[in-house]
Amino acid sequence: MDVKVIEKVGKTELLGMLLTEEKAKMLKKGKGRIYKGTLNVIKSGDFSGKEDQMIRVPGEDGVKRIILVGLGKKKDADAEAVRKAAAAAASEAMELKLKELSVMADTSVKGEVTAITEGAILGTYDFDKYKKKKKTPPRLLNVVSGDLKKAKEEAEKARIASEGTCMARDWVNETSDVMNPVAAADLAKKMGKKHGIKVRVMDKKALKKMGMNLMLSVAAGSKYPPRLVVLEYNKGKGRPVVLVGKGVTFDSGGLNLKPTGYIEMMKMDKGGAMTVLAAMVALARMKAKVNVVGLMGMVENMIGPDATKPGEILKGYAGKTVEMCDTDAEGRMVLADALAYATKRYKPRVVVDLATLTGVVLIVFGEYVAALMATDDKEAEALFKAGEKTFERVWRLPVYKEYEDEMKGEVSDWKNLGYKEGRYAGTITGGAFLKQFVGKTPWLHVDIAGTAWWEKPRNYIPKGGTGFGVRLLVEYLTGGK
Ligand code: BES
Ligand code: ZN
Ligand code: ZN
Repeated sequence: MDVKVIEKVGKTELLGMLLTEEKAKMLKKGKGRIYKGTLNVIKSGDFSGKEDQMIRVPGEDGVKRIILVGLGKKKDADAEAVRKAAAAAASEAMELKLKELSVMADTSVKGEVTAITEGAILGTYDFDKYKKKKKTPPRLLNVVSGDLKKAKEEAEKARIASEGTCMARDWVNETSDVMNPVAAADLAKKMGKKHGIKVRVMDKKALKKMGMNLMLSVAAGSKYPPRLVVLEYNKGKGRPVVLVGKGVTFDSGGLNLKPTGYIEMMKMDKGGAMTVLAAMVALARMKAKVNVVGLMGMVENMIGPDATKPGEILKGYAGKTVEMCDTDAEGRMVLADALAYATKRYKPRVVVDLATLTGVVLIVFGEYVAALMATDDKEAEALFKAGEKTFERVWRLPVYKEYEDEMKGEVSDWKNLGYKEGRYAGTITGGAFLKQFVGKTPWLHVDIAGTAWWEKPRNYIPKGGTGFGVRLLVEYLTGGK
């Protein structure tokens, strides 16, 4: 969707007017200029600006139709309310098969233009590759804003970040045999070439040579060989930030096979890696002045004669041994090698990993918030703030020593399963395991198992892959700049 910022409403097929209750009240009293048709529904009481309220009225002059969308009370009309309302207006345009729409928000919300752009793009997404009947989102969004110059920059950045989110959604929604580890590496190469990102791929032989046996142990049962993808985007100064993504293209659980009811959606287990790739593409497209390295640990966790058995002990890239107590705790094995490599090879300013690591995070936060674990308060605060701004929210959990102790092995240095079969504080013990592989590098771990995949659609987020983390990372890395 192209996004254009305009100062005044021009000729348009559909004008979305996002109004607060206070604004509606004012208009009702005759204060402020407004289209006649809209005034009628406000006067009649059919539209009062309540949250989620929506009403379509005929337009006039060059404006063919108008849709009024309620933002609720002014104090509640934040960027998220604007995102939702803009998504509703854009969906209406899509239903009507319109080629363009204009949206105007009447709030003093900071980042209003960003929110309108995000809502319209994210809210008209559909994973339709395998469907005959495809929806046609409008091709152009006109955002009406007074401050043209600032709004243009905002809209451009928001468009690229939102398109990045849609890319991540597409890639996560892609089936596991199509988006297998080899295909994911090829995709990264293609994206790198297109957007000016340096891409290096380590295949099975290279991984063996490097001693990445934790990662290899997860891939052992699959017909697809593993790939560790390295993306480098160096347009900034100083040490890089390294992003590491869990890329399990299908998590059957391995020999600790997942039961029915849990296995079906496990193509989503590549969410972390797909988010890292999409965020890197977005950063490159907006020409961000940052030094970022992305690592995608791509494997498929399957069963078969070669699959790693529970009880095996493996020595990874960091030189530490790990007992594979549960083959379903595979993400941390992949990340352990990738994190050890990231910190040793790049000496990053900070390393951030994103992973659909534990089912337990869903028990704690549901699908709404990702768990954050960190060894650096300042960076944790920065990510938290980026989360509040983008509404891709993270909430911090502690990394106390007791949790790390729970991961100590009996016959090995470490084990991949916490206490009570990994059920007690499962999200934290999973994170505490990862901490053993980052050395002294400031580290942020984001468990997106609940947020990367939604079982039902809400507002501007569809069912399936949500693309969670792309806007969060872009904001974290470029915010305030
Ligand atoms: N990929 C899963 C986590 C997951 C579960 C993501 C549900 C999304 C929805 C991960 O590899 C896993 O299986 N974790 C285990 C860890 C346990 C064995 C310590 C889990 O959460 O049960
Ligand atoms: Zn698993
Ligand atoms: Zn997994």
